Amino acid sequence: MREPIDAVGVGLLGFGTVGAEVYRLLRDHGDLVQQRVGIPITVQKVAVADRRKPRAQPIPPHLLATDAWEVVTDPTVHVVVEVMGGVEGARLFVLRALDLGKPVVTANKQLLSHFGGDLLARARASNADLFFEGTVGSCIPLIKTLRESLAADRIRGVEGILNGTTNYILTRMSEEAWTFEQALAAARARGFAEADPTEDIEGHDAAAKLAILASLAFDCQITADRVYREGIGSITPREIAYARELGYAVKLLALGEDRDGAIDVRVHPALLPLAHPLAAISDERNAVLVKGEAAGSVVFSGPGAGGPPTAVAVVSDIIDAARNLRRCGGARILLPSFASRPIHPISDLTIPYFFAMQVTDRPGVFAKVAAVFGEESVSIASIVQKSRGAVADVVLLTHEAQEAAVRRVTNRLRTMEVVGGVDSVIRVVE
Ligand SMILES: NC(=O)c1ccc[n+]([C@@H]2O[C@H](COP(=O)([O-])OP(=O)(O)OC[C@H]3O[C@@H](n4cnc5c(N)ncnc54)[C@H](OP(=O)(O)O)[C@@H]3O)[C@@H](O)[C@H]2O)c1
Repeated sequence: MREPIDAVGVGLLGFGTVGAEVYRLLRDHGDLVQQRVGIPITVQKVAVADRRKPRAQPIPPHLLATDAWEVVTDPTVHVVVEVMGGVEGARLFVLRALDLGKPVVTANKQLLSHFGGDLLARARASNADLFFEGTVGSCIPLIKTLRESLAADRIRGVEGILNGTTNYILTRMSEEAWTFEQALAAARARGFAEADPTEDIEGHDAAAKLAILASLAFDCQITADRVYREGIGSITPREIAYARELGYAVKLLALGEDRDGAIDVRVHPALLPLAHPLAAISDERNAVLVKGEAAGSVVFSGPGAGGPPTAVAVVSDIIDAARNLRRCGGARILLPSFASRPIHPISDLTIPYFFAMQVTDRPGVFAKVAAVFGEESVSIASIVQKSRGAVADVVLLTHEAQEAAVRRVTNRLRTMEVVGGVDSVIRVVE
């Protein structure tokens, strides 16, 4: 048991997009927060990289420090809030805070998705809370939902649109027929895309978030590097239009499934039937579908990023930590240590596939193309030809087929004289 406290002091590591909004929310909603916790919560110290940097959010200069250790070890700081980003520095600060028995709140998905297991072990050893709602889907309640609200159920699957930038780009390509480059420029102009958007476009951001969700959903340790990942850079508006004609939307999907004793975790573009609950999630919004054995399907959606929504998740975690501190306890929910579990190799995946390719428009070509599919035991469900003169676009859907066989088909098609190109092969989620 710790000493009872009559006010909770917060130390912020970072005062950027999220940190400044956390500070503002704690100040502007101070009365509300105090009413809900029973004692006030005040920011005692804030670590920044550059004290002289102009701040859009005014802050008394005496609160600022450039040494994050000073914030972590300050005796008036009871809760350490890591919103500075990066991995190595943040990891050391978080570990130190936990060693001191201080609850930690973080929004750092990269940190959690690589070192979550170590951090949770340290939190357990110190009986200190580690909260991370802001790491996935900003204020969409996902972490607490998996930890608490659905704790009674066996989770079989999670499917999510976890990256706002790519969802915005795919939505604009679908609705305005913009090219990828045009949609990316629009995302940048609206502040959704970073100067270097690689993390988003290549699916790293979504993979990190999926690793966190899948670890909680399936009670195992999954790091981001174990998630199979493909980005959206090769998708064109024409393929999106063809998919729509067949009744599908194209999304960058993050999928986790607990099946046949192993875990399937992957992030890639996917065709979703238009009636699927995630197909209608447009622009920068995020959404997650959780499939529980007893609960059935539960869908959550909302803004997936941004300072104010993420600050709501972070401050709500601070409130949780403060409530636990107030009753002199340590952590209320200490997650057990998660074992590692086998991951299904992508080559074993067996689902339907969508092909978009160009073929020479002359008699007998269809038969040659179909023969390759047949020889590799990939059965064609439907095939549509869109003639464009000497070359025709061919769009086809397969029945369930093994990924390894689909890759063999693709490689063989690419060597055929009658095939001008295989533009895309996209997995279909039914
Ligand atoms: N932005 C979002 O929408 C969002 C959503 C969910 C989660 N997150 C996560 O939240 C975290 C913060 O993101 P952000 O967008 O707020 O980042 P940001 O705007 O770049 O802010 C980072 C802050 O940390 C400070 N900082 C960096 N290194 C430091 C160091 N070594 N010592 C002390 N202070 C240091 C910076 O100081 P200066 O101000 O002096 O440069 C800045 O105030 C990241 O892990 C991110 O992935 C962000």
